[in-house]
Amino acid sequence: MTTLDLAGRTALITGASRGIGKAIAAELLRRGANVAITARKPGPLEETAHELAEHAGQAGVVAFPSNTGDLESRHGVVAATLDRFGSLDILVNNTGINPVYGSLIDADLAAVSKIFDVNVVAALGFVQEAHAAWMGEHGGSILNIASVAGLRSTGVISAYGASKAALIRLTEELAWQLGPSIRVNAIAPGVVKTQFAEALYAAGEDKAAAGYPLKRLGTPEDIARAAAFLLSDDASWITGETLRVDGGLLATGGL
Ligand SMILES: NC(=O)c1ccc[n+]([C@@H]2O[C@H](COP(=O)([O-])OP(=O)(O)OC[C@H]3O[C@@H](n4cnc5c(N)ncnc54)[C@H](OP(=O)(O)O)[C@@H]3O)[C@@H](O)[C@H]2O)c1
Repeated sequence: MTTLDLAGRTALITGASRGIGKAIAAELLRRGANVAITARKPGPLEETAHELAEHAGQAGVVAFPSNTGDLESRHGVVAATLDRFGSLDILVNNTGINPVYGSLIDADLAAVSKIFDVNVVAALGFVQEAHAAWMGEHGGSILNIASVAGLRSTGVISAYGASKAALIRLTEELAWQLGPSIRVNAIAPGVVKTQFAEALYAAGEDKAAAGYPLKRLGTPEDIARAAAFLLSDDASWITGETLRVDGGLLATGGL
């Protein structure tokens, strides 16, 4: 059963043409929110918006092709969302990139900077834009998509993990600074079956899930349901939290 607990609210979700962002968009639409989605490639983004619109009920969905890492794009997307729907109550910083694997000691620093720019600085940039345009006056709820790699070292996706650790701390700092009218939370997913993570389960899903107490990898919908909870009034006394949605992986103590 779906309640329309987000009816009348507007959500902006970055990096949402596929994977976790798309699933969050679908879940928020199901709960009655208007939704604006972004991604860089206009074609797939438009296709996703059409697909989502078929199940949107009374709510609306709109697509804004844009690069999360670009300041002017962020400003434009927030302005366009307000223009289209008249409010911006929910922000989901979902865009994340991971172009650097392996040893940090000889990592390409330009690539490391780019990871931090998109995964951390741009998330703060979107918060600043949303705050200036709407949430500072009207309040809101913000969700940052982090990773279990931000909570434990992996030895493999190290620069990415460090950026997600920074995003988790950013979440806590913002919760202090934007309360009481704006809540800021994060989700730390384990491996979720998306294009982004394909390499992590290329040798077989069962093998990849062996260390998970729940013995399966995550689905985008697993993350989306937790996201909707944290963004809704059901979580009205939760802020600064990073919710692990990882099939129990970190409860076992390791990655
Ligand atoms: N999948 C996992 O196992 C997993 C685990 C932990 C955390 N996460 C986090 O979850 C988030 C979503 O990952 P996912 O697995 O859903 O990835 P995905 O399936 O690869 O989807 C990524 C989405 O982001 C968009 N995107 C990428 N770079 C962008 C940019 N610079 N500006 C705007 N849009 C951009 C992509 O579209 P375009 O290419 O068209 O831009 C696409 O819509 C990321 O923050 C990731 O770090 C994922």
